[in-house]
Amino acid sequence: MADKDLSSVAVVGLGLMGQALASEFLKGNHPTTVWNRSADKAADLVSRGAVLAKTPADAVAAAGLVVVCVSDDEALHAVLDPVADRLQGRVVANLTSGSSDQARANAAWAQELGFSYLDGAIMTVPALVGAPDSVLFYAGPQEAYDEHSAALRLLGGGTTHLGEDHALASLYDVSLLGVMWGTLNSYLQGVALLSTAGVKASEFLPWATRWVDVVKVFATDYAGQIDSGDAEYPARDATMEVHFGALKHLLHESEAQGINAELPRFVHGLMERTLAGGFDQNSYASMIELFRTPEK
Ligand SMILES: NC(=O)c1ccc[n+]([C@@H]2O[C@H](COP(=O)([O-])OP(=O)(O)OC[C@H]3O[C@@H](n4cnc5c(N)ncnc54)[C@H](OP(=O)(O)O)[C@@H]3O)[C@@H](O)[C@H]2O)c1
Repeated sequence: MADKDLSSVAVVGLGLMGQALASEFLKGNHPTTVWNRSADKAADLVSRGAVLAKTPADAVAAAGLVVVCVSDDEALHAVLDPVADRLQGRVVANLTSGSSDQARANAAWAQELGFSYLDGAIMTVPALVGAPDSVLFYAGPQEAYDEHSAALRLLGGGTTHLGEDHALASLYDVSLLGVMWGTLNSYLQGVALLSTAGVKASEFLPWATRWVDVVKVFATDYAGQIDSGDAEYPARDATMEVHFGALKHLLHESEAQGINAELPRFVHGLMERTLAGGFDQNSYASMIELFRTPEK
């Protein structure tokens, strides 16, 4: 049963993710209006108390907080541009994945039309929306976030406002995905290498996850070194020269055991360029100089 004292929410876009978002607002007893291009996807939500809006205009009119989760920025504008004049005074929280350029352009669009815009990123899957550890990021006006933070926090215990720069949510999003792929690729490289000696992925797993804790120690020191801005990169753990020697072993083993060696060869190239920059006695953090520069 919706609670009239709780703010009304509209969810626009009921794909896999939009349905999960609307479901959490219903569980939190917020009066919830939903709209989707294909109305049949609203059936379950309606049976649980959601109001199905006939048009995007009706959905927008029903709520102070309009949460949008469609495929991409083009779809967002296909839905909202025709009703943009109805958005005035409302808060639009856009959980559609997109770029930082799109986030800033949408913020300018919102300012022109007189509504508040929060750009968001969902760092979880539909089944874990609403879980205590699930992270959703928002970027944009603090006031708009504060006004609706109680409702937005229903979508995940790790819900966080990153700051007023609208670019932040999508930049954090892809940066974290990069950490995921970098870690997974290295894990799979190790699985492939160890499989040549008959070791199963599940046997390697506890060692790989334990090793991530060691990486955390490295990364924590490097964050301080990079943020100091002095470009000294003291090698308190190992020098670049030592890292390079170890990487050469991974490259050699990958080639010698007949598995794919592209990943270690790529890292070999990056390290070589950092060493050529005179950082042989510095820490691995000195690689940031290379990552900050577009490739030639
Ligand atoms: N699923 C995940 O695990 C996950 C995780 C993080 C972020 N996200 C992001 O969340 C967003 C939605 O993902 P999803 O998994 O829910 O995708 P999905 O299941 O494919 O749903 C896409 C939604 O967009 C709507 N849509 C697409 N084009 C449209 C248009 N031109 N006009 C109106 N509506 C349109 C679809 O409407 P119809 O139903 O009518 O086709 C549907 O509601 C994406 O940006 C995705 O990157 C998803």
